[in-house]
Amino acid sequence: MFSFNKNPVGIFDSGVGGLTVFAEVKKALPNESVFYLGDTARVPYGSKSVDVVRQYSLTNVNLLMTLGVKAVVVACNTASAAAISFLHERFTNLKIIGVIDPVVEYLLTRPELRRIAIIGTNTTVASGAYQQALLRGNKNLDIMAKACPLFVHLVEEGLFKGEITEKAIDMYLSPMKKNPPDALVLGCTHYPMLRDVISDYFDGRVEILDTAFYTAKKLADILADDGMLNSGNAEDDRFFVTDDPNSFRATAEMFLKHKVDNVFHI
Ligand code: DGL
Repeated sequence: MFSFNKNPVGIFDSGVGGLTVFAEVKKALPNESVFYLGDTARVPYGSKSVDVVRQYSLTNVNLLMTLGVKAVVVACNTASAAAISFLHERFTNLKIIGVIDPVVEYLLTRPELRRIAIIGTNTTVASGAYQQALLRGNKNLDIMAKACPLFVHLVEEGLFKGEITEKAIDMYLSPMKKNPPDALVLGCTHYPMLRDVISDYFDGRVEILDTAFYTAKKLADILADDGMLNSGNAEDDRFFVTDDPNSFRATAEMFLKHKVDNVFHI
């Protein structure tokens, strides 16, 4: 018998970075199949305007809907920052979960974390989405934000540690090092790959928060509350990309540390 609950969860990102969210979703929801859409033809989103990112995000959600997903995770921080309300207004019958609200909700349960740093792409930081969401919940927070655009390239080159990466971290984060925040949000899909080296930079004294973890948890709660969990086993995941599947596959295998099959051009 047909059951909507068996349908896959859709995840979209500008490219490969959203696989950090994919990995957390698979951990939190091993019985769910995932259709991942990487808009590799139009990456990066992080240097594009809010209007352009909204249009791309609209296309991505429409595409995932034609593939029959039961919910959509906006893995891309830039798309979440620029387009989440825009998408909620346009897709009123579809559960769409961005990566910003879940970590903000978590932070608001931890008022002892008063000084909060956000790092992300240029567009994410300039949008003020994290900053506004946090301040709406607690106006006494002290928030600092820094765009770290080079981190995306370092991660895609596999430079998860080493001299060049440490220099880039110092270049962006040295103003924060003098008076470190209580918590730092990794507000970009790629940054979890730098988690350890960033933590070491602050001598382990700053709580580092990975948005992917909180997003996967939120998705699990929403699917459970709405009775939308798949009661059977997951089918094979599928990866859809708007540019060359082979280059996506190679980077994806580096991110996920396992073989990636089922990559299709769309
Ligand atoms: N996925 C983007 C983000 O999380 C980073 C890569 C890009 O700029 O497209 O903001």
